Amino acid sequence: MKTAEAEFPSILHPADFGLAGGVDAVEFGHAERDRLVREVCRHGAVVLRGFEWQDATAFNALVRSVAPESMEYEGGITPRRRVQGVVHTSTDAPAFVPIPLHAEMSYLDRIPRWVFFFCETPARRGGETPVVNLTRVFHALRPEVREPLVQRGIRLIQNLSGKKSLLAPRTWRDMFPDSDPGQVREVCERRGIEAVFSGDRLTLVSQRPAARVHPQTGEPVWLNAVTLHDSFSWELGHGGRKLLAAGLAALESRRDERVSAEDRPAHALYGDGGEIPRDHVLHIRETLWDCSVSRAWERGDVMMLDNTRVGHGRNPFSGPRCILAALAEPCIPAAWPGAVRSA
Ligand SMILES: [Fe+2]
Repeated sequence: MKTAEAEFPSILHPADFGLAGGVDAVEFGHAERDRLVREVCRHGAVVLRGFEWQDATAFNALVRSVAPESMEYEGGITPRRRVQGVVHTSTDAPAFVPIPLHAEMSYLDRIPRWVFFFCETPARRGGETPVVNLTRVFHALRPEVREPLVQRGIRLIQNLSGKKSLLAPRTWRDMFPDSDPGQVREVCERRGIEAVFSGDRLTLVSQRPAARVHPQTGEPVWLNAVTLHDSFSWELGHGGRKLLAAGLAALESRRDERVSAEDRPAHALYGDGGEIPRDHVLHIRETLWDCSVSRAWERGDVMMLDNTRVGHGRNPFSGPRCILAALAEPCIPAAWPGAVRSA
């Protein structure tokens, strides 16, 4: 028998549910919700393939029937668009940009338990959504990199201007539509984020732990946004990165000499404000990619993943590609019992 680890993500077809193709999304969601949640809890991520769901309407109906408590996408660095209901584009970042592996909204106190993706159009080449087991990442990290982060925690900084630029495609008004600075401060305070305005520029500062003990598995999970917020963890992706890592590190340290933490779109520090060594951040990025699994999308695939245990990213691609996403079931990791002090 294959282990849960070997089947990651697990791929399920209509026959696995005793069904033929052409399944109604709402009926399926209601009837199979418990089984689906069990499978996602066992494997971390599940792909439903061959169900003949064609578009955002079917995807929206499926998500709502499986997970009625939807969640809005909040914060974040890449742009995205609402498509319909609870469905939005997964990211509108340019095709050549690899999206670093991350747990959705792990920079906030409240994160979605479930993340759903739907493949409306697979890319001609690349464009997979790699997934990574965050417990595996925790154990794979070198202790000298992991332990200081576990013990000192993480300070996340996001600098948002009032105007779009190439390096900062989202302004603070995009992040807080219809809000004035006073309302922004209020919203942030409720979420444990310090919001500081300086002219038309907004700096958000939050303190987060590096890891948590997962309440269901009892295992540590590497649940943080350190590489997502590390200025430009928007690196080279998996292929060829090792060859170029040394050059990238050199370029980055030169850039860091020129650009102060206050001028970067986003930055991650130790919780006490100390700089995280550059080679430590590179090691975390490498480990996330090394532990990840990339599978080609097929048109109509739905992937449901446990965002508290599994991270995701995006490989660069060519040709048209449309992957939609939806978030559900708010969850507050700070309320979990147990804390990772050290391994
Ligand atoms: Fe994401």
